[in-house]
Amino acid sequence: MINLLNNIECFNYKRIIVNDLNENIINFYLLLKNDVEFIIKNIKKIEKKYNNYDNLSKKEEYYYQIREKFNCQKAKINAVYFLFLMKAGFNGVYRENLNGKFNVPFGKKKYICFDNDCLIEISKLIQNVEFYNLKYTELFDKLKEEKILNNSYIYCDPPYLPEDDNIDQRPLLYTKYFFNHQKFANILNELKETKFSVSMIDSKKSDYIYGSMFYKYEMGKLIRTINPKKVFKSTELIFSNYEIK
Ligand SMILES: C[S@@+](CC[C@H](N)C(=O)[O-])C[C@H]1O[C@@H](n2cnc3c(N)ncnc32)[C@H](O)[C@@H]1O
Repeated sequence: MINLLNNIECFNYKRIIVNDLNENIINFYLLLKNDVEFIIKNIKKIEKKYNNYDNLSKKEEYYYQIREKFNCQKAKINAVYFLFLMKAGFNGVYRENLNGKFNVPFGKKKYICFDNDCLIEISKLIQNVEFYNLKYTELFDKLKEEKILNNSYIYCDPPYLPEDDNIDQRPLLYTKYFFNHQKFANILNELKETKFSVSMIDSKKSDYIYGSMFYKYEMGKLIRTINPKKVFKSTELIFSNYEIK
């Protein structure tokens, strides 16, 4: 999204729509769009407090206090806690347990630093972006209802499939919801008039599901830290329903 917004003059989009089922990430972007000053004021307080603790175990205690508050309340400040947790948590990953609670452990960082200018810049960039917190099926229905589905380009970044069928898919899901890739690919395949691309890790399963319906493009190797217990180095793919030249 940020890359696209930075090169917006190269495109001719009337509307830019971002959707994710994760309420926390969408709430964060909504607050960044509508009240960046609130984020900066509060994140700077948290940053100062964290950095002033003179040992790692106090920082760790503080991290878990914030994680607990984040998980137990629904408040505006949660978007600020989200930013803190992504910075101070292990490897900057987002993961929830089966009860939908954020459960990434402490990242053991001595210091953390938030860049005000960067937050302000991104806030300005997203002023015209529409953010939604829907299931992808609900989003597609909405786009259909508004009669813009056929005129859209859709970039999808769904949960990753494991490279190896023996790996439990749970840690790759981010949230408590299981993601059915076959159903997702079938629904995409029905969007005959819409151009779309899907990011995916190269695997037997992704080849089987997406490769049988769409064009496949290799985008190089990436290191992924989705699961705090495992770092993946994998080939990043794009599956598309049109030929990319
Ligand atoms: C690979 S992550 C992509 C995250 C984001 N694009 C990024 O670059 O940080 C997969 C995302 O799919 C979202 N997701 C899972 N199931 C979904 C669904 N049924 N509808 C919409 N989004 C879903 C998850 O919440 C998660 O954020």
